[in-house]
Amino acid sequence: MKKVIAITGTPGVGKTSVAEKLKDLGYEVYAVNELAEKLDCIIDYEDDCAVVDVEKLKKRFLSIPGELVVVEGHLSHHLADTAVVLRCNPLVLKERLLSRGWSEDKVMENVEAELIDEILVESLETCREVYEIDTTEMSVDEVVEVVKSIISGTCKNYRPGSVDWISELGERIDEVIRL
Ligand SMILES: Nc1ncnc2c1ncn2[C@@H]1O[C@H](COP(=O)(O)OP(=O)(O)OP(=O)(O)O)[C@@H](O)[C@H]1O
Ligand SMILES: [Mg+2]
Repeated sequence: MKKVIAITGTPGVGKTSVAEKLKDLGYEVYAVNELAEKLDCIIDYEDDCAVVDVEKLKKRFLSIPGELVVVEGHLSHHLADTAVVLRCNPLVLKERLLSRGWSEDKVMENVEAELIDEILVESLETCREVYEIDTTEMSVDEVVEVVKSIISGTCKNYRPGSVDWISELGERIDEVIRL
């Protein structure tokens, strides 16, 4: 059976940026949304966002040949046995998502998801092995180096539980949840 590694996390944390570099390095990389379209697993579109039949996609995706595959996107952990959850300080993420021109509701929904570890928790439920990387102070290249060590099985750090935004933000949490 092929090994599937997910690059997952809240929108805007840097999944595609990391995945593009991995592709340049020769890894086989798929974006979940492209896969879902190619494999006819999109049920609907809501707010410009594809609603994916994840179970159907997983079945079809796993039947594609390949030994080591990287899949990226905020649903990618549903397709993988190892998840790399990219994290970003909610205050930084908020500015990043606002600069995309997204509605305040959409920005806050995603910033709050980051604050409460939503994707990390989902990944722990769906994957055998989970890592989390606080990318806030890292360059994309530095994140790529960590992901490479996870893929090669030499990474000893970045275990889940290392990121705790609520403690880290302290009183600044008010700035996160208020626009
Ligand atoms: N480590 C980083 N440091 C600083 N900026 C970053 C970093 N990683 C990504 N960015 C920037 O953050 C923005 C979002 O990155 P990217 O599109 O890769 O995120 P994403 O997780 O794929 O988002 P989405 O889920 O919406 O596809 C881009 O402008 C990118 O240049
Ligand atoms: Mg992306």
